[in-house]
Amino acid sequence: MDLDDKNEFARDAHLPEQAKTLWHGRFTGGPSESLLAYTVSLPYDQRMWRDDIAGSKGHVRGLARVGLLTEDERNAILGALDQVADEMEGSGFHFVDSDEDIHTAIERRVTEIAGAAGGKLHTARSRNDQVATAFRLWCKRELKDVAIRLIEMQEALLDQALEAGDAYLPGYTHLQRAQPVLLSHHLMAHGWALGRDVSRLVDTLHRLDVSPLGAGALAGSSLPIDPVGNAADLGFAKAFDNSLDAVSDRDFVAEAVFNLALIGIHLSRIGEEWVLWTSGEFGFARLDDGYATGSSMLPQKKNPDIAELARGKSGRLIGNLTGLLATLKGLPMAYNRDLQEDKEPLFDSVEQVTLAVAALTGMIATATFNTDAMAAAADEETMAATDLAEFLVRDGMPFREAHAVVGAHVQACLAGKGRLADLVAADPVLGPDAAALVRPGVGVQMRTSRGAAGPAARDEQVASYRTMLADEITAIRDLASVD
Ligand code: ARG
Repeated sequence: MDLDDKNEFARDAHLPEQAKTLWHGRFTGGPSESLLAYTVSLPYDQRMWRDDIAGSKGHVRGLARVGLLTEDERNAILGALDQVADEMEGSGFHFVDSDEDIHTAIERRVTEIAGAAGGKLHTARSRNDQVATAFRLWCKRELKDVAIRLIEMQEALLDQALEAGDAYLPGYTHLQRAQPVLLSHHLMAHGWALGRDVSRLVDTLHRLDVSPLGAGALAGSSLPIDPVGNAADLGFAKAFDNSLDAVSDRDFVAEAVFNLALIGIHLSRIGEEWVLWTSGEFGFARLDDGYATGSSMLPQKKNPDIAELARGKSGRLIGNLTGLLATLKGLPMAYNRDLQEDKEPLFDSVEQVTLAVAALTGMIATATFNTDAMAAAADEETMAATDLAEFLVRDGMPFREAHAVVGAHVQACLAGKGRLADLVAADPVLGPDAAALVRPGVGVQMRTSRGAAGPAARDEQVASYRTMLADEITAIRDLASVD
């Protein structure tokens, strides 16, 4: 930059006449290119076109109901909005330089089509309540879609669980082998977490089901509008009670982005596990070719890229949440342009979670398990240690004492003094009945308490898992439809 050139910014070209802003009456000059380039949100908020049109149609019907539009004006604007929808659908919609966001673009086109009547579309409405309305409608459709996909993933986990029968593997704590668990039990553990994710999405959907339309720029209107009628018309459960709150709060976005971040964390846990399970060291699972990648250099490789990206992309989902919360913090009432920054984090999180759920669901549904390798790892003798201690507890020995008795046998076994089964059989307080607990496949049968990792508890769990799925489907059906 030439510091002597006072006219540096004057060279920042202004837009041609077609670039009439929504506020041109108040201004003598048009917007600079750099202002538009910086403030534009059209590249990403285009995806809300359906919701903007739906919101505008509701608004127009509302204006007509209270006499602010004649029947002819109403029909002219609704017809123009339908035409815009057709153009958007068929990619016949042409954006111009002054279309700073999807809302401006649609209103411009409606005015071109409907003429003077189009100029009445924005009566008693601000982009502030318009944007908030469209964004809530977008959330209602898209978050419901995420919830439905999560249910499909839960179903895939259940299908694999049922397929797995009584196959078992080591359960781990600290990633050290701990006690045997049924593979079905392990798979369903992830499904329960996803079930809570679905219920969180449903809760968020109920809370955000409030129409902000009629809040205007910030304070409502002097015109006889009917926010309650508009809310009902648009399929919202209720209308806002406070106009300032309606246009300025984005807690519904923060909630949604949090829900998606937490889903991402659940998916990343699955991802990490499958990276381990498909490794040569574990060898517990094999990926279908369609859900694995190869190496450009190493011909033998088969890589779990979906699982790795599910792990890796969780960082970005967390970033979307922290970024949004930082944007919202400290914003004074009511609308501030900062709020435009609410869209990209949510759009990105929805897109990434949607892609991840589809890929992981396919990966899990098509994978095969090496149940021999799982059983071999789970049948390691020392895995029976807790069952041996509980054998002594059943005879009345305090658990601490029993723990020490068995611990001493484990230590002897690890020191090479014999097989654990033999050491146990030779111990008069334990004996052959206890030694039978060390036999392959016995441990998992011992997991009998409610919610435990053995077959009988698992069968009960399958029933409650199915109830969870049915309840989720009912909850989704009960959500007020956007249409
Ligand atoms: N694209 C903007 C947004 O998403 C539109 C709202 C602009 N409102 C305003 N008062 N300047 O927030």
